[in-house]
Amino acid sequence: MEETLTVVDNRTNTTYTFPLFKGCVRTMDLRKIKTSADDFGVMGYDPAFMNTASCQSSITYIDGDKGILRYRGYPIEELAENCSFLEVAHLLLRYELPNEEQLKGWTREVMEHAFVPENIKKLIDGFHYDAHPMGMLISTVAALSTFYPDSRNVRDPEVRKMQMRRLLGKLPTLAAYSYRYRRGLPYADPDPDLGFAENFMAMLWKQPGKEYKPNPVLARALDVLFILHADHEQNCSANAMRAVGSSQADPFVSTAAAAAALSGPLHGGANEEVLRMLDEIGTKDHVPAYVQSCKDGHKRLMGFGHRVYKNYDPRAKIIKRIADQVFEVTGKNKKIEIALELEKIALEDEYFVKRKLYPNVDFYSGIIYEALGFEPVMFTVLFALPRMAGWLAQWAEMLEDPEQKIARPRQIYTGVWERHLTPKRQTA
Ligand code: SDX
Repeated sequence: MEETLTVVDNRTNTTYTFPLFKGCVRTMDLRKIKTSADDFGVMGYDPAFMNTASCQSSITYIDGDKGILRYRGYPIEELAENCSFLEVAHLLLRYELPNEEQLKGWTREVMEHAFVPENIKKLIDGFHYDAHPMGMLISTVAALSTFYPDSRNVRDPEVRKMQMRRLLGKLPTLAAYSYRYRRGLPYADPDPDLGFAENFMAMLWKQPGKEYKPNPVLARALDVLFILHADHEQNCSANAMRAVGSSQADPFVSTAAAAAALSGPLHGGANEEVLRMLDEIGTKDHVPAYVQSCKDGHKRLMGFGHRVYKNYDPRAKIIKRIADQVFEVTGKNKKIEIALELEKIALEDEYFVKRKLYPNVDFYSGIIYEALGFEPVMFTVLFALPRMAGWLAQWAEMLEDPEQKIARPRQIYTGVWERHLTPKRQTA
């Protein structure tokens, strides 16, 4: 089968044949289709990049129809079952799962960077008492760039590796400090001798002067949730990380841009909105009326639907299983009953079936986070922490890709073509 595309420009009755590149047409080839020598040529027009590959990537593969998610070839189900988050972060950032020796070194490298400059605490102290933790995370991670000016040398692979260790290690600390500040508690500094999830839990919940021992079942549940959220190919926030990083901005401010994108309710902010939705519904018998309001277009069923998955999000399936393990320890979160009823009704309803709307990663995660003791405003922060690994992998891959350059899309201009200031205004 010849990997080419032949098109006829009916304006000039000219035939063009283009090579297909891995099943895609290189949009720059379309510029050869002209009506005259000085014609700009044909562009692709694709609002929200619904059908545009912005890059080649070897990090994550998703098959939306089959509900498949793999990180560097490993199915998410196997990674969630058998690995720790730091092992998966190593896979995303260093291309392979670490052996025992490599994992020890990697864990030490990341955890020793958990400390943040003391002045960051002063920055956090400056927020209003009820500041949203995502606003605090976005601000403080951007502020870290002022402490590490060496991070601007993004073309140096060793510099990139150092920033990966810094950002993976420090983001949980920024998140925990924001959480403690909002609760009026003194900051609990990191303990690099603890595991990634355990250290995060200790910084959140360690009482001054007391030993803190995280429940191993809850720590493992959090670590698995981190694995499930680690990367998801060219999602909105990864696209932001790549676009900002493509100007060679440092990875701290690029992370702030990615976290800002994630904070939107249509993206990572959805997990917080799901809890609000379940609270608004209140009881199982209010579910049918709520579903109807979604069908009437008055509401969105938060945690449902996905740009790529037109089948059940494989992460949502795993999260549902984790919920049972967490509830064994914490007691059942009553909202799970409403969520299960919501899912049952929606999956049988033509409106959702026709649009292939299924629960996504955000539908059940919030219920577990709440059972773990987090308030809804922290949920998107819990999404950002593990996604740091994915953002860094996407950022590094973009910088290492010889085809990539500064991201600068074109447009179709629809404004006033040309007009001039009246003489009166010119003299004013
Ligand atoms: C994440 O991209 C990623 O990979 C993201 C993510 C990751 O790991 O990075 O997976 C994480 O962001 C998951 C998604 C979390 N967001 C939500 O749960 C918010 C609710 N979901 C939607 O707003 C929506 O489904 C999106 C934003 C997720 C996807 O939107 P699309 O692909 O742009 O689809 P669309 O808005 O064009 O909807 C198509 C149709 C529309 O109806 P019609 O105009 O055809 O009549 O489906 C309807 C929409 O109205 N629809 C919904 C709906 N989602 C889509 N109707 C009710 N409730 C919903 N949730």
